[in-house]
Amino acid sequence: MRVKKAVIPAAGLGTRFLPVSKALPKEMLPIVDKPTIQYVIEEAVDAGIKDILIITGRNKQAIEDHFDRSIELELVLQKKGKNNDLKEMQQISELANIFYIRQKEPLGLGHAVLCARQFVGNEPFAVLLGDDVIHARVPCIGQMAAVYSEKGNTVLGVQQVGWDNIHKYGAVEPEEKPESVVRVRQLTEKPSREEAKSDLAVLGRYIIDPEIFAILEDTAPGSGGEIQLTDALNTMAERQPVWAYTFEGRRYDVGDRLGFLEATIEFALRREELASGLKTFLAGLQSNQL
Ligand code: G1P
Repeated sequence: MRVKKAVIPAAGLGTRFLPVSKALPKEMLPIVDKPTIQYVIEEAVDAGIKDILIITGRNKQAIEDHFDRSIELELVLQKKGKNNDLKEMQQISELANIFYIRQKEPLGLGHAVLCARQFVGNEPFAVLLGDDVIHARVPCIGQMAAVYSEKGNTVLGVQQVGWDNIHKYGAVEPEEKPESVVRVRQLTEKPSREEAKSDLAVLGRYIIDPEIFAILEDTAPGSGGEIQLTDALNTMAERQPVWAYTFEGRRYDVGDRLGFLEATIEFALRREELASGLKTFLAGLQSNQL
């Protein structure tokens, strides 16, 4: 079955990025000049997924405004003859069929995904976390959809993050030596270095079988007192195959200050009109001037 729907949880309070996330949804922080959530939506759209549910919360109005039309702005751009900008603004509002639902309480990622049940129905669906922005030749979620169509079961997007970093992620215990696609024996949310069975981390991309909803309903709060998607996926792995797929692409943790800066610089260096000026600036930086 083809993956036609995506869910983007965006209800988090952004406590890793204060103070800017106090009044601004962290999903609206720009990488160069585009909000992070737009990169994530474009990834889904480039993979042929047009029906997208964003799970929002209070103070997230700016996300809806961004993907809506802005008639006043369009009129001004039209009057000024800024046709390229006008076209770009119109394209943003036509990117995808975007739906919204509010997660009323911050009960965790698993609970956020459960809010998508009515929208998803009984078909496989993609989940893309906004803190993970992935630059790849073939959109990461598209690579995973291809694995899904071959395997027909849940697929998790993973990469090795090193043993020193595994405590920040959902960690995979693979059935055998990791290859590009490997069956998952077990998953642990944020294990200590000693607990982790590998340094393969789930990096915010999932294609999930709808059975997850029934499992989530019965999943007790786990790490951090929250209902964890990882715990529900672990139960699923006991009942049916779950695959870990090492995707091709550069992943940025834009929910982290350093990861965000790395993304900003590298995305800017990929832009023709900015690359040479930025390179000159970076080459001329001298730490004793800071
Ligand atoms: C979430 C998931 C975790 C995953 C991570 C990827 O954690 O719970 O399993 O590895 O995203 O970024 P969070 O970063 O929201 O704490």
